[in-house]
This record gives sequence, structure tokens and C-alpha cells, in this order.
Amino acid sequence: MLNESTKTGKAVAPKPLAISEITLTDGEIQAAVDVLRSGALRQGRQCEAFEREFAAYVGASHAVSSANGTAALHLAYMAFLNPGDEVLVPAFTFIATGSMVTAAGGRPVMCDVDPHTFLIDLADAERRLTQRTRAISPVHLFGNPCNVDAVQEFAARHDLRIVWDAAQAHGAKYHGRDVGSLGDFVTYSFYPTKNIFVGEGGMTCTNNAEYADRMRLFRSHGQSERYVHTALGLNYRMTDVEAAIGRKQLLRLNAMLAIRRRNAAILNARLARIPGIEPQRITAGGQHAWHQYSILVDEQRFGMNRDRLAARLQEEGISTGVHYPRGLHQQPIFQQLYGYEPLPVTERLAEQILALPVHHGLEEEDAHRIAETIPAMAR
Ligand SMILES: Cc1ncc(COP(=O)(O)O)c(C=O)c1O
Repeated sequence: MLNESTKTGKAVAPKPLAISEITLTDGEIQAAVDVLRSGALRQGRQCEAFEREFAAYVGASHAVSSANGTAALHLAYMAFLNPGDEVLVPAFTFIATGSMVTAAGGRPVMCDVDPHTFLIDLADAERRLTQRTRAISPVHLFGNPCNVDAVQEFAARHDLRIVWDAAQAHGAKYHGRDVGSLGDFVTYSFYPTKNIFVGEGGMTCTNNAEYADRMRLFRSHGQSERYVHTALGLNYRMTDVEAAIGRKQLLRLNAMLAIRRRNAAILNARLARIPGIEPQRITAGGQHAWHQYSILVDEQRFGMNRDRLAARLQEEGISTGVHYPRGLHQQPIFQQLYGYEPLPVTERLAEQILALPVHHGLEEEDAHRIAETIPAMAR
């Protein structure tokens, strides 16, 4: 839609607002070029330094880098799962949270989520416990930290390991502590669009030295010394080019988070008051990392459905995203493997969820523009 005029009287389109911002700084590009010129392309000193610096940033004892966030999850599950072990996972998440359980020989048990925070519903999880339940994999979805105390209490009560999926939660905190410091396993992704974006890359943090050693072994063909393989592993190594970019980005993560938090506050202040629009509720005691800013669109109360709102926003130059249009239990592969049982909250979220731009590339006025455009569309 053309709604601004130039001095010549010609209408100009409003500035397009993308759903993510993935521009590298000159310093990040130079860091990658330096590695390329060095000829040391594989996992090496940059990866080691990135692991050290990332662990220090989140406050974990160990960080194990990997090829991507999917590999980070797979390594975590491989480190402790036995064949047939069950892992409680939220159904409202990215496929890898569940599929890597299957890849590691276990069985993901899909649980429903809270309708306001969009995070795993422990009451529903409790109903799905069996003799085979070995772990729980809560996801800090969109950067919203889970209720860590409640999950840890639940896990302790049922003697479960915890694999925290923090792929979207770099910099999220719970009662002042970075979520990366909190567990047996905390996994991250550095895919473009994430809060740290190196291309492909992952990290698994742990406070357990034995788990860290096991994950390093599985990351590199189960090789304990040159050409001696004591476990069945994979090649899940990160390269030094990605690590060099990641090290630089870690230095500006706090500044990027501050912009995301400012933008989210602007959106929340306006949108939480619109009938039929419900922004994701922040966990009590949590500091959200705002990888995504998502709202639920109630067609009856707002006057149009999620898809119509997305199309109208696009006409105004505002891009949106749908994460996720179906739950894990609605994925054909999981239905084929495990059957289907309805999960009503997840299914409603999949119909109503809409992500709005919140990223570090937005100006303050951009966030105000998004916040004002949506109420103007309400009936
Ligand atoms: C919640 C969650 N888990 C795992 C992953 C997998 O990360 P990657 O794409 O780096 O393999 C993602 C990536 O989108 C994710 O959002």
C-alpha cells in the first residue's frame, strides 16, 4: 500500500520491515576472511575459543560446539539415552526437539503446552509418564524461558534428565541466571535468524564433564585416538569460519538483545490491550530473549483470522511468520511412527499464532509502526 508522499507528489511505499535481520558486521566478515586466508578451515582454535567464550557468557562449565542446533540436540540425547527410552517433549516446537530423540534410539512423547506462555505443560507431561520415561526436553520457545524451578522440581521428583532446547534463547534468563547455566544439557542453534547467526552452527552446554567428553566423542566419529573408534559417532563438527563469526557476535549479543527487548516492550504495551490479540505471556521471573515476538489472533474477537492479518500486514510492508503451523503430533512422520492423539492447546496455537518483526535491525519508530498498524485493522 502506498501511503507516504514525496515532495514531487509521488506516492512511495512504506519501508519494508523484514521478519529477521541477518547482516554481518565488517568485523564479523573480517574474522571469517582471516580464517579463510589462514587455511585452517576445519574445527580448530576458533571453535575451542568460541566454546570457552560461550560457556563463560552463559555461565556453564562446558560448551561443545557442533554443526547445527539439530546436531547439538542429537549429541545431548546420544550422551545418555538408551534404546526405547521415552523423552517428554512439547508438541509446539521445531521438529528437531522430537526427531533427534528418535534418531538417538528413544521415543519422543508429545505433551501439550500452556496456552499463554506456549511452553511445556507439566500437568500434561505428568499424565504421560511411564516406566520408560528417562528425560524431559523443555523448549524456551521464542526465547521465553520456561519455569525452570518447576521443571527441575518435576525432573527431580521423577528422576529425569533435562535437555533444555535453547535454540531460540541466547541470552534468556530465569531469576537472573542465564538459561545456559542451568542444566545437564542446554542446546543452542546459530542458524540465520537466531539471536546469534553464523550460518550453520550449534552448541550444547553442560555442567557435567563426563557428558561433555561423551558429546565430543560422538561429535567426531567416536574416535578416542587417531583411527581408534570406541563408539558409533558422526561428523558433527563446526568449522573455524563459523566459530570466528560467532565469537564476534557474542560480543554484540547484549546490545542486540537490548534492542529486541525495547521493541518487544513497545509491541506489548500496545497489543496486549487489543481485544482478540494475545501476545505470548512472559514466564514469571523470566527475562525473555525475543528471538520471535508472537501473538495469538482470535478471529471471533479481532474480526479477522491469522492468515488474513498476515496478508494485510504484508500489504503494509510488514513481514510476518508462522511458527509453527502444526504440532509435532500433527507431523506425518510422527503420526506414522507413533499414531495421533489430539493436543488441543497446541492445535489452537498452530491455527492462531503469528510472529511479528522484533529483531535488532528495527528502529524504535518501526516497532511503533507495527504496534499501531494492527489495532488500525481491528474491526
Ligand atoms: C526449538 C529449536 N530446536 C532446534 C532447532 C534446530 O537448529 P538448527 O536449525 O540449527 O539445526 C531449531 C532451529 O530452528 C529450533 O528452533
